Amino acid sequence: MSASHELEKAATAYALDAVRLDKQGAKGRAITLYQKAIESLLQLVQLYPEYGLNKVYVQRAIAYQERIKALQGAVAPVGVQPESNNGGDGGEAATGGDGKPAAELVVTEKPAVNWEEVVGLDTAKKAVKEAIVYPVQRPDLFPLGWPRGILLFGPPGCGKTLLAAAVATEIDANFYSIDAASIMSKWLGEAEQNVSKLFGSARKSSSDGRAAIVFVDELDSLMGAHSNEVGGEIRVRNQFLKEMDGIVDKGKKLHVYVIGATNKPWDLDWAFIRRFQKRILVPLPDHHTRLMMLKLYTSNLGIDADVDLHELARLSEGFSGSDIRDVCQSAQLNLIGEFFESGKAMDKTAQPRAITMDDFRKIFEARKPSVSLDMLSLYNRWFEAFKAL
Ligand SMILES: Nc1ncnc2c1ncn2[C@@H]1O[C@H](COP(=O)(O)OP(=O)(O)OP(=O)(O)O)[C@@H](O)[C@H]1O
Ligand SMILES: [Mg+2]
Repeated sequence: MSASHELEKAATAYALDAVRLDKQGAKGRAITLYQKAIESLLQLVQLYPEYGLNKVYVQRAIAYQERIKALQGAVAPVGVQPESNNGGDGGEAATGGDGKPAAELVVTEKPAVNWEEVVGLDTAKKAVKEAIVYPVQRPDLFPLGWPRGILLFGPPGCGKTLLAAAVATEIDANFYSIDAASIMSKWLGEAEQNVSKLFGSARKSSSDGRAAIVFVDELDSLMGAHSNEVGGEIRVRNQFLKEMDGIVDKGKKLHVYVIGATNKPWDLDWAFIRRFQKRILVPLPDHHTRLMMLKLYTSNLGIDADVDLHELARLSEGFSGSDIRDVCQSAQLNLIGEFFESGKAMDKTAQPRAITMDDFRKIFEARKPSVSLDMLSLYNRWFEAFKAL
């Protein structure tokens, strides 16, 4: 039997056992077996990069990885099928369905984020400026028009949402921010009309002389890839595609931009991918970027002279921007906790001690990066296959 055959058989066997154990509620063993299944699948992909079924293998590996995450998470629903992690009952904030959903789910207030707050990401910043900022400022310099769809993709917590917010601040645009997952779960039957209303307002804004940015977070939710069409995903998806064509066709002067963000680009189908002419990877921060982030996030903290930010940047290899912010926040929280427990905080003039290197080391010992190496290689593969800068 060929090596590929063996690996495929192994992956299938592991996965079957994992799903069985998962159903029985044996979380720990299910996770181990899911991991083995992922390993076999990824080996397969790496051994045979040209193999036609690789996309399917990658998707399977990702689905298992997501299941592992759900099992590890605090609210892991025991015995739930791997695909059905979006229960959708969303009890607490279920405000949709009573007549005015669009207003509640579309955030039009502009976030106040500037370029300096987005650390690193030079390639992504440059691409976004070329695609949106310059055309808005000098449309006369773009006789051939400009791209309307920009896809930001990459691992969670690396600045996709932040980057979109910085664009909105930079140009004096109307900013419509919607979360695709909420559209699907809360607009229910009205999702289709609301998508078209949303684009209607964006077009109107543009024809009234003000650029409009429609920011769709968690774009992959519009695909409804594994659902059985309960929420009318196909229709919403088609409406969305139609609206995207609409903003391109209606003459070159329209300043309506769609920025989509996703950390599951492989869930998007080709019809979607094609309409986002710019596809930009927002990667994990490298050493230098991590150093800058550490500087930023410790700048308002009292840190001891022994704290070596270069060393911290080394220790945080594989961490996302959001992980790094959490580390700094934890250091501060631990310190303040200790300060209160010692009773010193009652004296209003007393100040806590400075955060030391040891404090940071303890946090790193207890913390692993939130993005696994397996996932990273998937992003890179997807980027190589679909990038468009
Ligand atoms: N490049 C960055 N520069 C500065 N801060 C960052 C950066 N990336 C992430 N952060 C920090 O992490 C937080 C989360 O980042 P953001 O929401 O932009 O991530 P994301 O890529 O949109 O993640 P997700 O895919 O989970 O939506 C930010 O609010 C910020 O505090
Ligand atoms: Mg985000």
